[in-house]
Amino acid sequence: MTDYGKLFRLDGKTALVSGAARGIGAAIAEALAQAGASVLITDVLERAGQETVERIRRAGGEAAFFKHDVTIEAQWEAAIKQAEKEFGPLEVLVNNAGIETAAMLSQCTLEDFNNVMNVNVNGVFLGLKHAVRAMSPGGTSGRGGSIVNMSSAAGLVGTTGHISYHASKGAVRMLSKAAAVECAQLQTGIRVNSVHPAIIGTEMGENFVKHLVDLQLAPDQATAKAAMMAAHPMGHFGDTADVAAAVLYLASPAAKWVTGTEIVPDGGYTAA
Ligand SMILES: NC(=O)c1ccc[n+]([C@@H]2O[C@H](COP(=O)([O-])OP(=O)(O)OC[C@H]3O[C@@H](n4cnc5c(N)ncnc54)[C@H](O)[C@@H]3O)[C@@H](O)[C@H]2O)c1
Repeated sequence: MTDYGKLFRLDGKTALVSGAARGIGAAIAEALAQAGASVLITDVLERAGQETVERIRRAGGEAAFFKHDVTIEAQWEAAIKQAEKEFGPLEVLVNNAGIETAAMLSQCTLEDFNNVMNVNVNGVFLGLKHAVRAMSPGGTSGRGGSIVNMSSAAGLVGTTGHISYHASKGAVRMLSKAAAVECAQLQTGIRVNSVHPAIIGTEMGENFVKHLVDLQLAPDQATAKAAMMAAHPMGHFGDTADVAAAVLYLASPAAKWVTGTEIVPDGGYTAA
């Protein structure tokens, strides 16, 4: 009989989670470590990253921190090398690092657009490129594995005031599908999927609501928050564990036949 509990375990596997110093990335790192993975937490925020490592270690998990800006190609090579050196062959990559800005389309500067695309799209592209090199047969890790890219409900539907963010998260969805098809057809043993949360109560989630007031789309924060909550049929925002659980599934052997698709933990936001 299939041992379904075991299918969700990651014992002996090495994982790298970008942007994992805080928020959703930190919860993903905790989830993967609880499932038995050794996790390299990477981020530009060193202190918060070390604190997340300590929290995981105190709970009996294995983790380390590596300072890493996802927009710099050489730092991707160094981060993957570090994960392999510290814990062994890389089998799970979560491209989670991301930023959000707000502006009406007619006011949005090219600089803002490029900045968001640089972190949210170039960062994911570079992570995919170097992880696929390492994880493919004959690569430095060479065992195949799972890559999970953090998109957003904003990669599936549009809203007012977040043009750069929507464009970037839509691109992450298609980067994931194209990479999934190529990796499968080349028999690399690598699966690639994307995750599309609606609003999660992190610093970014709070800013998303605040920006609606900044853009004069809502009179005050309480009204903006109530309107955004009402846009989720379940009536409330998600928490970081709702996203981490979806990532854990995609990273695990339970999802061994799942590639090129999306999981949408959004409280019904995109169904309405
Ligand atoms: N919070 C939400 O409502 C929500 C909803 C859907 C998708 N997301 C996505 O989830 C991911 C995590 O979001 P969060 O809510 O935890 O945000 P957050 O701002 O709390 O955390 C993002 C992390 O990414 C790091 N980061 C930013 N730029 C980086 C760079 N260039 N290199 C390395 N690290 C960098 C930050 O330092 C931070 O630790 C993002 O990709 C975001 O777009 C968030």
